[in-house]
Amino acid sequence: MLLYGKELAERIIGHVKAEAEGLGIAPRLGIVVVGDYQPSQVYVKKKMETAKRAGIEAELFHLPHNSEEKEVLALVQKLNRDGKIDGFIVQLPLPPHISPDKVIEAIDPRKDVDGFHPSNMGKVLLNLKDEVFEPATPSGIMRLIEHYKIPVSGANAVIVGRSNIVGKPIAVMLLHGDATVTVCHSKTRNLPEHTKRADILVVAAGKPFFIKPDMVKEGAYVIDVGTTRVEVEAGNGKPKTSKVVGDVDPKVQEKANVSPVPGGVGPLTVAMLLQNTLKAAKMRKKAGK
Ligand code: GUN
Repeated sequence: MLLYGKELAERIIGHVKAEAEGLGIAPRLGIVVVGDYQPSQVYVKKKMETAKRAGIEAELFHLPHNSEEKEVLALVQKLNRDGKIDGFIVQLPLPPHISPDKVIEAIDPRKDVDGFHPSNMGKVLLNLKDEVFEPATPSGIMRLIEHYKIPVSGANAVIVGRSNIVGKPIAVMLLHGDATVTVCHSKTRNLPEHTKRADILVVAAGKPFFIKPDMVKEGAYVIDVGTTRVEVEAGNGKPKTSKVVGDVDPKVQEKANVSPVPGGVGPLTVAMLLQNTLKAAKMRKKAGK
């Protein structure tokens, strides 16, 4: 079975749109991009287009690659104070001379719709549900797991990758679902020994086709979070084209239930960001701001 996220994402977007219309004023999302890193351009375009469909007004704040850290911090402060912006994100990665930790810490946690601020991360860790923004990708993965009624309680959940934006938070969320969680990373010894025990395998390693069929248990649920653009030969002397591939070899689909790339987790990430933006707008309305 393939675990598609597209239809579920569309349903979430429909709910966001209906609720946003009920608010009377469209929620506003700010998107900060520093530099011209190509994959970010693609993701941001997708976020802007989907926001529009969800009745959310997205505004792009583009700074040049050579911007100083203090200029980025000044923009963050400005957006924190901007009464018209309900929530905003700073697209990662930032150029190497800018500290993502400093920038993320500067965001007002009540506007941190990416859920990357230490305050939101801490609430996720403690399973505090009130006024928290959960990071979009792991929260989308949990929605996909619920949608396909994948049993979590007591399951062996194995995560490959320990990033702040996927690996760590999804480990915590699966733990809250009473899974037995193992987090693997680049220093893990004998990785297949771990992955073969997984009932639920979440792969966010950023290595195309890294997970092979002999590393996966028959019938396991495999969530592929990888998105790497690779060049492909078009043949017949035509110029090369490119496509996005996941961390899981497509052959794994013959023995396990896999979320495809594209069309699996990706659409849910965007949908959850927009749901967080709606939540931010509702929180601000409730607080009378
Ligand atoms: N870069 C890769 N994924 C993300 C994301 O979810 N949010 C932001 N801000 N940057 C990213």
